[in-house]
Amino acid sequence: MPAGLAARQAMYENGSLGRVTGGPLRPGGWTLTERMLSQCELCAVDTVLDVGCGDGSTVRYLLENHTIHAIGLDNSVRLLRQGHLQASHIPFTCALGTSIPIASRQIDLVLSECSLSAISNADSFLSETWRVLRYGGRLAISDVYIRDPAGTQSLRALPLTCGLRDAFELPELMQCLQKHGFEILAWEDHSEALKNLAGQVALSHGSISDFWSQSEPQVNPLDIVLAISRARVGYFVLIAKKPA
Ligand SMILES: C[S@@+](CC[C@H](N)C(=O)[O-])C[C@H]1O[C@@H](n2cnc3c(N)ncnc32)[C@H](O)[C@@H]1O
Repeated sequence: MPAGLAARQAMYENGSLGRVTGGPLRPGGWTLTERMLSQCELCAVDTVLDVGCGDGSTVRYLLENHTIHAIGLDNSVRLLRQGHLQASHIPFTCALGTSIPIASRQIDLVLSECSLSAISNADSFLSETWRVLRYGGRLAISDVYIRDPAGTQSLRALPLTCGLRDAFELPELMQCLQKHGFEILAWEDHSEALKNLAGQVALSHGSISDFWSQSEPQVNPLDIVLAISRARVGYFVLIAKKPA
């Protein structure tokens, strides 16, 4: 794998976030996963592809709590190996979200929980998502977003290994989805979930700055905290459809 790609995984692989959440590497936990699923009209025979699945905790959750098929895809060998050790029956694929090794129109729902920003190439991800989805299939995204464009530049200038610096401004994301042919069915702000995660992180690491020092040691933690606050980074859920 090219060195640049490996570097983008560092924050997710080092365990500092998973230790706080007890699984998912993102805000909102299963409550947000369920919130998205409830808006996707899934049937028992449907297949869900979780792109950027990390160690596959959502795939495990789906298989244990829903009567659907679920597959996980991530490009981190380390995270997939951890997932395999926890549950060897889970179907995982090690691949890029921008080059999905699945035939066209096989998937009913593509789930992207905090991975669109991490993948950092929305155009290729959305082309591939469009290709693998059946007509009428859904795309469910939860991710960070920029609520104050005045802070966009300073956030994007940070040499972070996590997806924060590729957080979208909302109009950019909507345009990108529409350009690829998706119909947007629902959008919700869930910034409270990000605030709650920040609280948990501060409690477990002593402070948010201590968390950033450990997770992204190449960047001054105060620069990160300042950029996040300037951009008023929030969290959203979005459901889109590949029209029939
Ligand atoms: C914030 S984590 C979210 C993980 C998981 N969805 C969850 O909810 O716990 C982002 C994930 O995206 C993965 N990722 C980053 N770039 C990727 C790419 N180009 N293709 C596939 N996965 C990628 C990372 O390895 C990481 O597991």
